[in-house]
Amino acid sequence: MRGSAACRRRSCPDNAYRGAQRGGGSGQQRHRPPLPTGRCRGPFKCVAPLSRAAVALLSAPPPTPVGPPELLGYAHLTLRGVASPEATPTSRLLKGQRCAGRRATEIATQVRGGSGTGPGGAPERRGGRREGCPAGVPAARSPRGRFPVERCPVPAPAAVSRAGPAAMLLLRAAAIAAGHRLPLPRRGCSRFTPGNPAAGGRRGAATVLAALLGLGAALAYGERRRRVAQAAQAPPSRRYPRYTREEVGRHRSPQDRVWVTHGTDVFDVTDFVELHPGGAEKLLLAAGGALEPFWALYAVHNEPHVRELLREFKVGELSPDEPPPDPAAAQDPFAGDPPRHPGLRISSRKPFNAETPAELLTERFLTPNELFFTRNHLPVPAVDPASYRLRVEGPEGRVLALSLSELRSRFPKHEVTATLQCAGNRRSEMSRVRPVQGLPWDIGAIGTARWGGARLRDVLLQAGFGEERAGEWHVCFEGLDAGPGGAPYGASIPYGRAISTGADVLLAYEMNGEELPRDHGFPVRVVVPGVVGARSVKWLARVAVSAAESPSHWQQNDYKGFSPCVDWDSVDYSAAPAIQELPVQSAITHPRPGAAVPPGELTVKGYAWSGGGRDVVRVDVSLDGGRSWRVANLEGERQELGRAWAWRLWELRAPVAAGADLEIVCKAVDGSYNVQPDTVAPIWNLRGVLSNAWHRVRVTVTR
Ligand code: MTE
Repeated sequence: MRGSAACRRRSCPDNAYRGAQRGGGSGQQRHRPPLPTGRCRGPFKCVAPLSRAAVALLSAPPPTPVGPPELLGYAHLTLRGVASPEATPTSRLLKGQRCAGRRATEIATQVRGGSGTGPGGAPERRGGRREGCPAGVPAARSPRGRFPVERCPVPAPAAVSRAGPAAMLLLRAAAIAAGHRLPLPRRGCSRFTPGNPAAGGRRGAATVLAALLGLGAALAYGERRRRVAQAAQAPPSRRYPRYTREEVGRHRSPQDRVWVTHGTDVFDVTDFVELHPGGAEKLLLAAGGALEPFWALYAVHNEPHVRELLREFKVGELSPDEPPPDPAAAQDPFAGDPPRHPGLRISSRKPFNAETPAELLTERFLTPNELFFTRNHLPVPAVDPASYRLRVEGPEGRVLALSLSELRSRFPKHEVTATLQCAGNRRSEMSRVRPVQGLPWDIGAIGTARWGGARLRDVLLQAGFGEERAGEWHVCFEGLDAGPGGAPYGASIPYGRAISTGADVLLAYEMNGEELPRDHGFPVRVVVPGVVGARSVKWLARVAVSAAESPSHWQQNDYKGFSPCVDWDSVDYSAAPAIQELPVQSAITHPRPGAAVPPGELTVKGYAWSGGGRDVVRVDVSLDGGRSWRVANLEGERQELGRAWAWRLWELRAPVAAGADLEIVCKAVDGSYNVQPDTVAPIWNLRGVLSNAWHRVRVTVTR
């Protein structure tokens, strides 16, 4: 098994084996299965992947000591994190992955000798300290609280400090020669003191380098011997015990061991449960049974490297008398998804996620339904409008069950023109600074529609709630789309917004004068104007008022913003508020990046919008990277102050000279004089949400 460490934080929502193997920030990332990494131990802090051979190496007898004792001590400590004496080879391998302070792409980039850029895109100083990761940080606990996260507990030996990166390179080279992959030292988050790494003098460094080469050779020799011995002992092909499905079914908890089947193979995944990228509870749903129905829903598992990971856990085979798994169970849950417009820019098919092409985004003030961006986390539910009932839970256990026709007839129809924007819109720009988790949205995860439906306020009043806003209430929504364990998509908004006449929150059944398309929530969805799209729950099944926010994963452990210094090791979702109103935003839709435009008059077009009903009062455009500015013309519908829910389209015409290289930049200013930040780095966050820096497009003018 070989690959990079994947983010395996439960709170990493795009997690399941999706990771950033490609680096470079496309954001279209593929996770490899979790792999062994060392924990932060001295200069190896957050060690890059060890191959299976390297793990095997750890079970080999200790190598003959060569080189200065302090160095060997150091190397031993570095590896010790992976090779705890009580661990089985597999659990050792997995427990060695605890280094999640680095995300997979960062590690992969570093191992590949990648750019090593800091948050601002500037190269991190080799040997300097990384922001938010000072040396000597006291022992902390991981967000899950189960695994101690000790940072740099080992004082760096002076020799290593002096020899610095070069020594590590050589150690790695020696190890690679022996068939292992060992990491480069972590740049900028290491024990190396800032400044000249060679300050210790050439002699000290040379001693260390020689010692490292010797150590590498010794390791290589030990491993070779071990392999030869193993090959001699290994049986030609392993015979596995046979089990019935009923026997497998008895292993449903870590106490009884967690077994699953895939095909006719039986796996004991107990040691992997806590490391499952989607969270332990998700894996436990499959405990005692077949993986196929779950993998069908989360198609990202159907990858060779995931199957390879699984093979590590094989403990048996199903008895030949067992019937094969029910093919219906593994049916593609996305098979019933609706047809889509071929013009959409797809970022993921299952679940379906696609954005409006930038070229078409500002062609019309209202985005056509077929081209409106789609953000689905699960398969699109098939809802029979005749039997559909919306359950509204009123006070004292009263329930209002509304059919679609009752929703239409019993409440006045209210229409609102509002822009919906996904929190991840323009994420791909963020991942160019540093990789982030999430779909690689360009500028088209935004759209504007005229929504029609009943006001949520009217429905809440009908259900028995009052105007008063006692305490901190929240209105929680649940969709009909649910994960394999039955947990529906959910979100909540504060009660004050839901009950306010001025907030225009709708239970919408129309979009641009048509019934809601299936992808956009047929038959009923919530539309919360001015608020992140995630709260506008589609395929609405249930509305409830609660003293707490929605318990949904998407309210609690996703769609929150963090500081650029927060990584997957330190993130604490409970400490950050859920995103509600979005910040001011704008983007250039024409010309497109890299275009060659003719000399003469250039027309620049785009959109601008702000959350919370704040109107856009100005859009500034620069053709020279922000040195000089012009004011664009705002077009489109102007809405009431405080209820400016829709975007403004804008246009600027300016003369451009033949042969010029232009860096076109736009920034919007809203009614509260909020303005977009000029660069991405200071607003970078690990999920790539709230990406609203000045939008920049480089074009050339032809001669
Ligand atoms: N509602 C349900 N039930 N399921 C979902 O996956 N996605 C949310 C929100 N409502 C979602 C949902 C997110 S993250 C966004 S951005 C918007 O729907 C997108 O709405 P759209 O697909 O109609 O553009």
